[in-house]
Amino acid sequence: MTETQKSATLSLNGETYELPIFSPTAGPDVLDIRKLYAQAGVFTYDPGFTSTASCDSTITYIDGGKGELLHRGYPIDQLASKSHYLEVCYLLLYGELPTAAQLEDFETRVTRHTMVHEQMHNFFRGFRRDAHPMATLVGVVGAMSAFYHDSLDVTDPWQREVAAVRLIAKLPTIAAMAYKYSIGQPFVYPKNDLDYAANFLHMCFSVPSEEYHVNPILSRAMDRIFILHADHEQNASTSTVRLASSSSANPFACIAAGIACLWGPAHGGANQACLEMLKEIGSVDRIPEFIARAKDKNDPFRLMGFGHRVYKNTDPRAKVLKQSADEVLELLGVEDNPLLQVAKELEQTALNDPYFIEKKLFPNVDFYSGIILEAMGFPTSMFTPIFALSRTVGWISQWKEMIADPQNKIGRPRQLYLGETMRDYTDIEKR
Ligand code: ACO
Repeated sequence: MTETQKSATLSLNGETYELPIFSPTAGPDVLDIRKLYAQAGVFTYDPGFTSTASCDSTITYIDGGKGELLHRGYPIDQLASKSHYLEVCYLLLYGELPTAAQLEDFETRVTRHTMVHEQMHNFFRGFRRDAHPMATLVGVVGAMSAFYHDSLDVTDPWQREVAAVRLIAKLPTIAAMAYKYSIGQPFVYPKNDLDYAANFLHMCFSVPSEEYHVNPILSRAMDRIFILHADHEQNASTSTVRLASSSSANPFACIAAGIACLWGPAHGGANQACLEMLKEIGSVDRIPEFIARAKDKNDPFRLMGFGHRVYKNTDPRAKVLKQSADEVLELLGVEDNPLLQVAKELEQTALNDPYFIEKKLFPNVDFYSGIILEAMGFPTSMFTPIFALSRTVGWISQWKEMIADPQNKIGRPRQLYLGETMRDYTDIEKR
């Protein structure tokens, strides 16, 4: 971040204030208002952070106009086609693509941490079987702070590193356990000879009574879904992790906070909501009815899997996933699936509708990921846990970046207060 010669001048109550301007390596200039309150006695107002940079970062860059997503400078479509998830994790965490030796070491460290403390199996048994796997995930990941006491000290870089590897390694195990628990099947231990994505499929779909062979096309598609969800700049859940950890709370508690935020249907919960919407639509002839509802100002219904706060042209992740969806559906021989017919027709109708064109609404990553995951055999309730396990590396990378920053301060927004001014307490009999 370089402070430029440029500055903005604010005139307020007969005084002028110079606001320095920072020039990022990419993206729009940023006004520095950190001293504004001290100098001018005013706050800025920006609910939803639509014009506010909450931190500086070197991890991920999005150009919403161009539909561009870069991790450490590398375009997401190149990473999705040439790399694999653990290599992308290394890139996000450490800033550069690994050498062969560095990658081998990292993969070994992650693989050796995939098992969870055996006592955690009992912890699962306290949940109802019909609990949503996200509810279980929030609880169990938060509870990791009760099991891994030797990686809670955020001031120790080594403990931070161990916590990072533990979280990346154990999230697939915990997500798979949440699934197995919900369907009443025994937990499946991780297998170290499988890669990250294949191991997750094995823990979700194998049973002790028979051999399970992971289809390489499906594990590749799974790995691609992991890559495409790995990080996304300062979105709601990542900002939640940063805000939670700005108080120096332990990493497991902070990631649990991120998972809670991700769960909402306006964020990671959209993949489940999207598939449920496609099921509700049910057949192609009902599409006009739902499009009309989405456009009706008096109806809260929105087309799930459409629109994005930052992308206003195309979601580059959706482009890659659309191709993956075609491959997976062809492999599984389900191209004629009625749900898929509804999805394809809905996409075309919305993309050609003036309302969606004018508001720049097009399919986002959640539109296609749900279709692929459904075809793979995951229930809709597992879609958001899969997003959460993929995003864990992004949350952790952003958390590590923030903790290591000497300028790190507790996050403490201010407010525009519109409530009552001071008044005297009224005794109950006089109200
Ligand atoms: N269907 C119908 N209309 C929509 C949709 C939609 N999916 N999304 C936005 N709009 C309309 C809004 O009604 C609004 O119209 P108005 O200007 O007439 O009031 C306009 O488009 C702008 O929408 P906002 O909600 O102001 O845009 P915002 O940037 O705040 O929201 C969001 C982005 C939350 C993603 C929104 O598009 C949405 O709710 N989409 C559906 C949920 C979804 O798919 N979420 C996943 C996001 S991607 C992710 O988290 C991985």
